[in-house]
Amino acid sequence: VGQNLVTLKEVDSTNNFLKNLLSNSKPVPEGTVIMAESQYAGRGQRDNVWHAEAGKNLTFSLLLNPVFIPVAQQFDLTRVVSLGVFDALQPLLGDRLKIKWPNDIYCDSGKLGGMLIENMIQGGQLKSSVIGIGLNINQQNFGENTTNAVSLKQILHKDYDLRNILSQICSYIEVYYLHVKAGRIDLVRDLYQSRLYWLNEVRDFRSNDNKFTGKIIRVMDNGLLVVEREGTEESYNLKEIEFLN
Ligand code: BTN
Repeated sequence: VGQNLVTLKEVDSTNNFLKNLLSNSKPVPEGTVIMAESQYAGRGQRDNVWHAEAGKNLTFSLLLNPVFIPVAQQFDLTRVVSLGVFDALQPLLGDRLKIKWPNDIYCDSGKLGGMLIENMIQGGQLKSSVIGIGLNINQQNFGENTTNAVSLKQILHKDYDLRNILSQICSYIEVYYLHVKAGRIDLVRDLYQSRLYWLNEVRDFRSNDNKFTGKIIRVMDNGLLVVEREGTEESYNLKEIEFLN
């Protein structure tokens, strides 16, 4: 992963760029990374936009062809990528680093980054996956309306080399990807769960306009979040639950 690296000065979204490459031209090698200094239409989850100051942050997309992952288990890919990013940053942040379900990277209660994974399914099988990752690295200030974004620089008061972090992330993603490929899925699932933000803590959530107190107890194989709520277990998808601070 990351051997074939394309760097762009400016693009709408690296995810869009990579998806266009796939649909237009000759085959794109697995592991290709498209990195941009800036995006003018970066996309986040839940139809959000992704803002990042030009040249200061990591915004890139990588291509995997996870044909060996059954569609019903595609959340394993989310685990692979989250753990890869996590491992690349952990030497810098240690225990303060967590994975906020499903795939945000948190330091304490600030969001360092996130990912947008777009899977292409063909004939009932995963064919390719465009994995977009955005990480706040050297940005100093975030607008007032970006609620809880934080950068490595704000936390550690140093500048970081973007290429260096990128290459760490790529190597670790490859490690976990190969674990899944070799059938070591339990290892990946257990590790992902152990890294979760708010795991086993009594916290406030919102679902369908109802606030409630509950405790995250696990993530199902298919990626649903299981929260214990007044003694019963409820499962939620991304659109059904919100974390309240
Ligand atoms: C989120 O937390 O909502 C996901 C953010 C994903 C942002 C990255 S930046 C590189 C890639 N290109 C995009 O348009 N989005 C992803």
